[in-house]
Amino acid sequence: MSIQEEQIAKLVERRAAAKVAGGQARIDAQHEKGKLTARERLALLLDEGSFEEFDMFVTHRCTNFGMDKSHPYGDGVVTGRGTIGGRTVFVYAQDFTVSGGSLSKTMSEKICKVMDMAIAAGAPVIGLNDSGGARIQEGIDALAGYGDIFEHNILASGVVPQISGIFGPCAGGAVYSPALTDFTLMVKNTSYMFLTGPAVVKSVTGEEVTPEELGGASVHASKSGVADFAAENEQEGIETIKKLLSYLPQNNMELSPVRETADPVGRVSDSLNSIIPDNPNKAYDMYGVIREIVDDGDFFEVHREFARNIIVGFAHMGGRSVGIVANQPQMLAGVLDINASRKAARFVRFCDAFNIPLVTLVDVPGFLPGTQQEYGAVIQNGAKLLYAYGEATVPKVTVTLRKAYGGAHIVMSCKQLRGDINYAWPTAQIAVMGADGAVDVLYAKDIKADPAHASEIRAEKKAEYEELFNNPYQAAQKGYIEDVIEPRNTRFRVIRALCALEGKKQTIPAKKHDNLPL
Ligand code: HXC
Repeated sequence: MSIQEEQIAKLVERRAAAKVAGGQARIDAQHEKGKLTARERLALLLDEGSFEEFDMFVTHRCTNFGMDKSHPYGDGVVTGRGTIGGRTVFVYAQDFTVSGGSLSKTMSEKICKVMDMAIAAGAPVIGLNDSGGARIQEGIDALAGYGDIFEHNILASGVVPQISGIFGPCAGGAVYSPALTDFTLMVKNTSYMFLTGPAVVKSVTGEEVTPEELGGASVHASKSGVADFAAENEQEGIETIKKLLSYLPQNNMELSPVRETADPVGRVSDSLNSIIPDNPNKAYDMYGVIREIVDDGDFFEVHREFARNIIVGFAHMGGRSVGIVANQPQMLAGVLDINASRKAARFVRFCDAFNIPLVTLVDVPGFLPGTQQEYGAVIQNGAKLLYAYGEATVPKVTVTLRKAYGGAHIVMSCKQLRGDINYAWPTAQIAVMGADGAVDVLYAKDIKADPAHASEIRAEKKAEYEELFNNPYQAAQKGYIEDVIEPRNTRFRVIRALCALEGKKQTIPAKKHDNLPL
C-alpha cells in the first residue's frame, strides 16, 4: 500500500468510527427506547445521497471530570447540508449516544456554523433535538454555547425558516432554542420539553407529575401551544417536517414554490351555497369550507390541537402557497380568546415574514367575555392579532361568511387593517353586535317600562336591527367590502384576488423595530 493509499484508508477508518461515535451499545439502547439515532433521522429527512456532513472530526476541549480521556468524533451532534425535494436545507441532529447529546461549547460552535451557512445561503435550518441539556462537566462554557445558539436563532428569525424537531429530552434553558424558531414538532411518548423536570417540580411545589404529563407532546400541542405539531412517531414527525417545508420559501426574499395542480381554478362548489344553517346559533364545520376552496382539498394544519376555535394552516390555491386563518364555529362558536389570538397572530406574522399571502375566513361572534380572559390579558393578546394583521404587507384576502361582530370584525383582517380584497357571503352579518344583545342595550328602558309586551318589543326591534345589519349590504354600500359573492364561487374569486395582488408592494414607516404588544 502506498503512503497515499494508507492515508485514505485511515480516513475511511476515521469516518467509520465517527459514524458510531457513541458505540454500538448506546445505539442499541437508543433503539430500545423506540428512538432512532441522529444519523438515521437525517437519512429519513434528506433526499438520498444529498447529505454533506461538516465537522465530523470535531471533538470537545473539556478536561474536567476525566473528560480528557475520551474524545468521540462529532461531539454529540451531526451537522451539515442536504436537500429535501431537491431544495437545500441546513441541518443539525443531536446524537444522544454521545454524552446524552448534551451541549458542549464545541457542539454549539458546530450548530452555529450551520446556522451561519444557512443565513448566508438563504436556506432553512432544521434542528433535531435529543439532548440531556448543558454538558454538566463544561459548566459555564456549555451555558455560553446555549447563549450563542439563541443569538443565532434570533438573527436568523424572519430571514430563513427555522424548524425544531424534538425527538428526545429537551429540558432546562435548552427549550428556548425551539421556542425561538418558527415551528416546533414533538414526538408523542419519546420527547418532552420543560424548564424544570418532575423532581424539581415535586421539591418546589409538592406536585407529583410524570415527564409526559409535564411536558409531553400532547400537552404542548394542546395545552401550552409550545408545540405546533405532535407526531405519533419519529417517521411521521419527519414526514410532517418535509411537508411543512413544501409550503415555505427558502428565505424571506423568495416566494414559495408553485405546486402544479389539476384542480381547476374555476371549480365551483355548490355545497357551499347551503352550508350556513338557517339558525344563526347553529354551528357548521369550517374545515368543510377550507377543503372546498383549496387545491385538491389539501389543507396542512398547524397547531391543530391548540385553541381549536381558530384554524390556521397552509394550502395551495391556484398552485400558490397561502396561509389560511379561519374561525371555527364548531368550537366555542368561533369566538376569539387569548389562545386563539396568540395562535393566529404568530401564524400571520410568520406568513408575512416569508411572503405567504393570507386568506382569512371570518365567522366570529366576538371576544370571549369573563374574568378569566380579562385577568389573562385578553386585551393585550387580542391586540397581538390586530397588530399582526395591521402590519402584514403580504396580499390579504378576506371572506366574511357569517358573523363579524364588534372588535372581532376589525381584528380579523378588515379593510381598515389594510385588507386588500374583502368579500362577504350574502349570509354575512357585519355589525357592532348580534341582534339580541343590541336590542337589550338599546331598548332596556322600553322593555322594563312595559314588561307585559317585552317579547313583542324585542321581536319588533330585533327584526328592525336584523333588517339593517344582519347582512353585508351596509358594509358593501360604504365600500368596506369589495363585493358580496356567491359562496359557490369563493374558490375562484379568492384565487383571482390573489392573482391580482401578485405584484403587491406595501411599506411601513421606517423604524428600528415595532413594539408588538407582547
Ligand atoms: C453530561 C449527560 C447529561 C448532561 C446525560 N448525560 N445528560 N452528560 N451532561 N447534561 C449522559 C449520561 O451521563 C449518560 O452517559 C448518557 O448521557 C445517557 O444518559 P442516561 O441518564 O443514561 O439516559 P436516560 O436514562 O435516557 O436519561 C436521560 C436524561 C438524564 C433524562 C436526559 O440523562 C438526565 O436527567 N440528564 C441530566 C439533565 C439535566 O439536568 N441537564 C441540565 C439541564 S439544565 P453515559 O456515559 O453513561 O452513557 C440546562 C441549562 C441550560 O441544560 C441553560 C441554557 C440557557
